[in-house]
Amino acid sequence: MFWLAYALVFLGCLGLPPADAAVVEHTFSVGNLTIDRLGQRQVITAVNGQFPGPMLEARDGDAVVVHVVNYSPYNITIHWHGVLQRLSGWADGPSMVSQCPIRPGGATYTYRFNVTGQEGTLWWHAHVSFLRATVYGALLIRPEPDRPHYPFPAPYGEATLLLGEWWNASVVDIERQAMLTGGPPNNSVALTINGMPSGYELAVRHGETYLLRLVNAALSYQLFFKVAGHVFTVVAADACYTDPYNTDVIVLAPGQTVDALMHANASPGRYCMAAQVYQSVANATYTTTTTGLLRYEHGAEAAGMSTIMMPSMPEFKDSATAQDFYGSLTGLLRDGKPTVPLHVDTRMLVTYGLGIAPCMPTQTLCNRTRGSVAASMNNVSFQLPKAMSLLEARMRGNADGVYTRDFPDRPPVMFDFTNGSMSSNRSVMLTSKGTRVKRLRFNTTVEVVLQNTAILGSENHPLHLHGFNFYVLAQGAGNFNARTAVRSYNLVNPQQRNTVAVPAGGWAVIRFTADNPGVWVMHCHLDAHLPFGLAMAFEVDDGPTPDTVLPPPPPDYPQC
Ligand SMILES: *[C@@H]1O[C@H](CO)[C@@H](O)[C@H](O)[C@H]1NC(C)=O
Ligand SMILES: *[C@@H]1O[C@H](CO)[C@@H](O)[C@H](O)[C@H]1NC(C)=O
Ligand SMILES: *[C@@H]1O[C@H](CO)[C@@H](O)[C@H](O)[C@H]1NC(C)=O
Ligand SMILES: *[C@@H]1O[C@H](CO)[C@@H](O)[C@H](O)[C@H]1NC(C)=O
Ligand SMILES: *[C@@H]1O[C@H](CO)[C@@H](O)[C@H](O)[C@H]1NC(C)=O
Ligand SMILES: *[C@@H]1O[C@H](CO)[C@@H](O)[C@H](O)[C@H]1NC(C)=O
Ligand SMILES: *[C@@H]1O[C@H](CO)[C@@H](O)[C@H](O)[C@H]1NC(C)=O
Ligand SMILES: *[C@@H]1O[C@H](CO)[C@@H](O)[C@H](O)[C@H]1NC(C)=O
Ligand SMILES: *[C@@H]1O[C@H](CO)[C@@H](O)[C@H](O)[C@H]1NC(C)=O
Ligand SMILES: *[C@@H]1O[C@H](CO)[C@@H](O)[C@H](O)[C@H]1NC(C)=O
Ligand SMILES: *[C@@H]1O[C@H](CO)[C@@H](O)[C@H](O)[C@H]1NC(C)=O
Repeated sequence: MFWLAYALVFLGCLGLPPADAAVVEHTFSVGNLTIDRLGQRQVITAVNGQFPGPMLEARDGDAVVVHVVNYSPYNITIHWHGVLQRLSGWADGPSMVSQCPIRPGGATYTYRFNVTGQEGTLWWHAHVSFLRATVYGALLIRPEPDRPHYPFPAPYGEATLLLGEWWNASVVDIERQAMLTGGPPNNSVALTINGMPSGYELAVRHGETYLLRLVNAALSYQLFFKVAGHVFTVVAADACYTDPYNTDVIVLAPGQTVDALMHANASPGRYCMAAQVYQSVANATYTTTTTGLLRYEHGAEAAGMSTIMMPSMPEFKDSATAQDFYGSLTGLLRDGKPTVPLHVDTRMLVTYGLGIAPCMPTQTLCNRTRGSVAASMNNVSFQLPKAMSLLEARMRGNADGVYTRDFPDRPPVMFDFTNGSMSSNRSVMLTSKGTRVKRLRFNTTVEVVLQNTAILGSENHPLHLHGFNFYVLAQGAGNFNARTAVRSYNLVNPQQRNTVAVPAGGWAVIRFTADNPGVWVMHCHLDAHLPFGLAMAFEVDDGPTPDTVLPPPPPDYPQC
């Protein structure tokens, strides 16, 4: 209800005269929040005593200023997921990549960035340990004031639905335990819609169209989303407009967003909406669903309709439905907007997935015969530096002791990447560790083939790139074969995203232009895989002109 009311107030403002680019300024006070969920009282880390945290709303071209004050007992950073951060990499947020964390005890850092050339639904979240489980919120960017029109019929109302996960234990303890054992963390106990395991309600008027802004803020699970008796027209993904795509099911990997129009044209009544786990791992058994309610104003009672229909959900391992959704989206071509680069300067083939590494001395509960679960890209299990962030080392012009510039362009060993029997070949399972980055000259066009491996099981890993949107040219099953794959490349209107869900036991091809100087991490958005090392980083050089050089860090840039 709150969300809808908020949205309607805003839409009412669209008729006002346009203002110039504004400054959207907030203070985020991060601290303990005592909260009741699933019949249990517990302490979580939250922003401004709200869960989910406050919604940021800006227009294309606005400057965003967020003062973060850390009263929580943990190190904190905030990432503005999908914001391009052009020339503002200091505000990106991944711990030890773009900054040292903001320390507990009231330390502060002000994130300053512009949202330029972007429209749609994004979100913000903590980017340190598992804290994004409860430290997250929506970030909406509306069209600029002098062009207040979406490239689709204006909706009557809108609603933001943040889909998350809930643990009835401290997520910091969950992560610590996973680290000590070298195994996967405990599963969550529920999914949530806007922080609630149940009870979320959206009121609609019959005959009107609503823009649903969906965010998958879950840590570990891809999700199917449906509303009984209703269909959707997808109009954007990851704040990039798409061609209208009609569907009755929306699929989102962690990190992804979808904007979809929903016409409230069913007979007035009450309808269940549901978010359910989509599980790509062959032997996984965990599934869970959360429901909310779509309620027609005026008429539900009059019409005598008290039935709450449950939508018929896909089977929880229905990869065909998931892949159909992911693979069907195409980008909306718009006058004056960039299109996919046709020339490629740098090509990479990056294999990635799980593996094992010897237990570390600190992993006191780790099975030393088996080893610790690890994850890698081109067999490098990414290690965060300890003394200084990657971006600070870049600025100092001295990477020594912080990172090396030898991230491989190809896997060191070619093997049958998607053959499940690799799971018993120890020489393939073992990973090496390093903080290796791929250096790119400014403005280089990069094509990366992302190839999932079957080591320790095939899984659809959503890969998220900071600092850029990329075009998704193609995706497919099995081992990537350039000769056959290239025929399936969409070089006309590929979808643009910041997070791609690469098919389990398959591959995807992405392309982007490295025109944003800085250090940008690319990592799996299944949160447990990040500390296992499923990440790498691109170091992008400054360009030739003053407006293509990363400015110095702000004066309050946190030190380690
Ligand atoms: C916050 O919660 C943690 C965990 O329950 C607790 O250890 C800490 O003392 C609390 N801090 C404050 C300031 O209340
Ligand atoms: C945001 O844009 C304004 C106006 O173009 C510019 O002065 C400012 O430096 C930009 N801020 C950042 C953090 O890039
Ligand atoms: C994780 O789950 C196991 C098994 O249910 C339980 O014993 C353990 O306490 C849980 N860990 C945390 C940190 O809650
Ligand atoms: C955690 O949540 C689950 C699912 O609701 C419940 O069955 C279990 O009893 C809860 N555990 C604790 C310790 O409250
Ligand atoms: C340790 O791992 C080995 C090899 O996977 C397995 O055989 C053994 O049962 C494990 N030990 C324990 C205590 O779980
Ligand atoms: C394990 O994989 C490596 C690399 O592909 C291969 O050379 C080796 O023969 C394999 N070992 C077994 C036992 O299959
Ligand atoms: C997978 O690898 C095993 C062992 O190397 C081999 O016997 C099997 O034929 C391979 N499977 C496929 C589908 O290639
Ligand atoms: C990865 O590196 C480790 C350590 O050097 C090595 O043992 C393993 O064979 C490599 N695996 C692959 C698939 O390259
Ligand atoms: C980047 O490259 C493109 C095409 O290769 C060129 O048109 C553009 O001017 C370059 N941008 C800058 C800032 O150098
Ligand atoms: C899945 O289960 C089957 C049958 O129990 C087993 O053969 C296979 O190795 C398992 N796969 C993985 C990835 O654990
Ligand atoms: C918090 O960050 C500081 C600075 O990087 C680091 O030294 C410290 O170990 C971190 N604390 C935790 C609990 O991770």
